[in-house]
Parts: sequence; C-alpha cells; structure tokens
Amino acid sequence: MEFHRVARSGQVPEGYVRRFYVNELECAVARLNGKAYATSNYCTHLDCLLSSGKLVDDGLGCSCHGSVFDLETGAPVYPPATEPIQVYPVREENGEVFVGVSEADVKSGGPRRRKPTAG
Ligand code: FES
Repeated sequence: MEFHRVARSGQVPEGYVRRFYVNELECAVARLNGKAYATSNYCTHLDCLLSSGKLVDDGLGCSCHGSVFDLETGAPVYPPATEPIQVYPVREENGEVFVGVSEADVKSGGPRRRKPTAG
C-alpha cells in the first residue's frame, strides 16, 4: 500500500465530496465532521458517480436512487444498494490529502465502469 497525494485540504471543504484520481484509480474524497475520507467513486447499486452525491449525517449519499454508504466502512446504510463500496485510508498532512491504495485497488477500480457479471 502506498499513499499518494490527491489534493490540497482546501479542495475538500467540510460537507463536500469531489472526484480525484490516484494514478488510474478514480475515487470520491469527502469531508465529514472535519475528517477526510476516500472511497470508490462508483455506487454499487447502478454505478452512479458518488462524487455527484451528497454528504448526509450517516455518510455519503448517492444522487441517483438515494443509497447511503458509511464513510468509515463503505457499508450500505440505506438501500437500494446492498453491497459495500471500497474505502481507502486517508492521511492529511501539511494541508494536503493523501490516499492509500494498493496495486490490487488500482487494478480493480480503474476509471472504467464495472462490467456486468455474467448470468
Ligand atoms: S446508483 Fe446509487 S443508488 Fe442507484
């Protein structure tokens, strides 16, 4: 796992979610109650972009059909999504945001959308 700088802290203001890239990996970076979080940018319901969503008290809300995901664990806390989103560790130092990803994360979560599973 390696930490990569993705943004200045000021680019992720309280209550906002924005899209950033860690090399090829697209992620949503959000700040809630002062803490920065990074997740996959794709909702596990129908792949809407979570960076177009909204922060709510319980986490990150998808703008398409209202699923909400816990920012610490990625678990879906409101339907229709039933699968968790990937979450990545975040460090904030000297006014910059760093996201930790592994090679496997980059392979599984690149900019392409997830392919529908067979059957
Ligand atoms: S795509 Fe996110 S709730 Fe449907």
